[in-house]
This record gives sequence, C-alpha cells and structure tokens, in this order.
Amino acid sequence: MTDEMQTGQVGRVPGVRIVGTGSALPSRTVTNDDLAQIVDTSDEWISTRTGIRSRRYCDRAKGESQLTLACEAARRALAASGHTAEEVGVCLVATFTPSAATPSTACLLERELGLAEDTLCLDVNAACAGFVYALYTAGCLIERASRPLALVVGAEELSRVVDFSDRSTCVLFGDGAGAAVLERAAGAPDLVATWGSRGNDEALFAPGAGAVDAQGAPLASHLSMDGRAVFRFATEVLPRCTAEVLAAAGVEATDVDRFVFHQANKRIVDVAVRKLGVDPERCAGNIDHTGNTSAASVPILLDELVRTGELSSPARVVMAGFGAGLTWASCLVEVAP
Ligand code: UT7
Repeated sequence: MTDEMQTGQVGRVPGVRIVGTGSALPSRTVTNDDLAQIVDTSDEWISTRTGIRSRRYCDRAKGESQLTLACEAARRALAASGHTAEEVGVCLVATFTPSAATPSTACLLERELGLAEDTLCLDVNAACAGFVYALYTAGCLIERASRPLALVVGAEELSRVVDFSDRSTCVLFGDGAGAAVLERAAGAPDLVATWGSRGNDEALFAPGAGAVDAQGAPLASHLSMDGRAVFRFATEVLPRCTAEVLAAAGVEATDVDRFVFHQANKRIVDVAVRKLGVDPERCAGNIDHTGNTSAASVPILLDELVRTGELSSPARVVMAGFGAGLTWASCLVEVAP
C-alpha cells in the first residue's frame, strides 16, 4: 500500500456529453439501529466514522436484484435522454456483483430493454471505479461507431456479498443502480479521463461464487477489507486523480460546476475537498441514505443532483471513483440532460 503511485496516461474523447441520467434504489431501508441488532455497533459509531445513516437492500421476496435495479435505472436514463432503446449502440454495465457470471448484466439488458442485437454489450469490473472506467470506455467505443449513443450503468447488490458477522464491513455497503446516456454530438466538449490500477488482493477482496483457495477448498464468498489501508489509499488517490484530470483538461477547480465523488466514506470526500481547496457545497454527497454502493454510487449521486435541480444544464462535472483492484479513475464530462 505504500508503493509510489505511477500516473501518466490521459484519455480524451472528442465531442460527447451525458444527455440523460436515471437511478434505482431497492425498497428495503436498513438503518444503523437495525444493524446494531445484528452486530456490536451503534448509530453513533457508523454515522460519525462514515456519514452513513441508512442504506437500501434488495428485497428478494419482491423480486428485486442487481438486474432489476440495472433495468430500472437504465430505463429512466433512456427516458430522460429522449432517446429510444433502438438508438443505443453500446451498453456497458459496471459491476462486481452481477446477478450471474454469465450472461453479463449488459447482455440481459439487451433483452429487458429491447436493445438492438448489434449493440455492443459487456460488463466492466473495476469495482468502485467501475462507472468512470465504463463511461470513458463507452466514449471511446462510440467515437467511431455508426450508432454513437451509449448506455452506461453501474449496478450492485452488495448485501449479497457482505459478511454479516463482520461489523467493520457490513455496516458500510448498500444496493443500488445508476445510469447515464452518453451521446456523441457536434459542438459537445471533450471528455477527459485519467485512471490507474495496482493489483492488490489483500486490501479489498471478494472471491465470488465458486472461488477456491490454493488447495482447492471453497472460499467463503464474503467481501473482506483492511479498512485503514484502503482509507489511506483513498485519501491519497482521490485528490490526486481529481487534480490530474483538471490539469489534463486545462481547467481550474473553480470552473467545475460539480464534483461527483464515489461515496465510500464522507470523511474521504472531506479530505479530498480540503486537499483540493474546492467549495464543499460543490462536492455534497448522498452517502447518508445510500451507504457505499460501489460502481453504482457515482451515477446514483449524479442522477439525484439532476432530479433535485442542483445541476445547471449544461454542467461541467468531474467524477472520480476508487476501490478494489486497486483501481481509480476520474473524468471531466459535460452533463446536459
Ligand atoms: O469503496 C471503496 C473502498 N472502501 C473504502 O474506501 C473504505 C475505506 N475505509 C474506511 O472508510 C474506514 O477505514 C472504516 C469506516 C472502514 C473504518 O473507520 P476507521 O476510523 O478507520 O476505524 P478503524 O478500522 O480504525 O477502527 C476503529 C475502532 C476499532 O476498535 P479498536 O481496535 O480501536 O478497539 C474497531 O474494532 O472501531 C472498531 N469498529 C467498530 N466499532 C463499532 C470497527 N467497525 C465498527 C463498527 N462499530 N461497525
């Protein structure tokens, strides 16, 4: 975790903007007091250490899942964009908790939304940086496509993989999905992105169904995390990759309308705000009622800002995510829903 971070690559996609957003949270609200019935914790500890007061879990009895949330968020984003499913040329879903290993969630969205069969559909696993990775990748894919419209979704069902006997992790995570429609358009500004990854399976690890250890014994499918190590990584990488994307785009922090940061811990965002010297009002989050929804957190927050009228249109938005992998990514993009 103390490795010198290497930085450098910058991506630039000419003439694209986000023209619609959507999100979906499942029906079951779980408060900190609810979790205090299961593990030795308290509302006071969770809210002061993380900013989380409640999170949402899928209610399987009602048929809710990562896939149904992804569909709902994607439908809303498409409706908000004014485009139809047939116009989509690329569909990427960022997730590390897909409803099935295969078919991919993106592929199942093809069926559920009625996307054309020649839509390029695939899932992206970059954990909590996944949505920003997917947005940049989608931008590259539509740059030369004959149908230059991309549906980019972040969808997670983390309640399925958390260990409800581990108080240091189970209180942090929630389920949800967010989506954005990215369009190549004449006159739109460039999307500028930076990213990075550093293989590390100790700081944050989720083995997934069917995983076995070196002797072939099944591994518990639960997520495990060295919280302090990830906190140190996050408070270094979030301000750094945000500053990098601003420098690459030649934009001052004061020219940015909104910073949409991955919601892992309010304290991490507070550190980034201090280091970057930006107005905290332009970095406000929603972790209090969502918890950490990994790849879904950035598009859920973006959609909330759009729906509550907190984003001017068009708005210059910087998004950044960081997490397991380890991965990090940031991008500057115009949002004009
Ligand atoms: O999505 C991207 C990846 N994830 C993150 O970015 C998360 C990064 N890490 C964090 O946000 C923070 O490290 C945590 C919220 C996970 C933990 O906060 P912390 O301030 O780093 O706490 P800590 O791990 O240093 O633990 C402090 C104390 C410990 O007790 P002792 O050893 O001081 O007696 C823990 O056992 O708090 C204890 N503790 C709890 N107490 C009550 C840990 N979890 C809980 C809990 N309730 N849920």
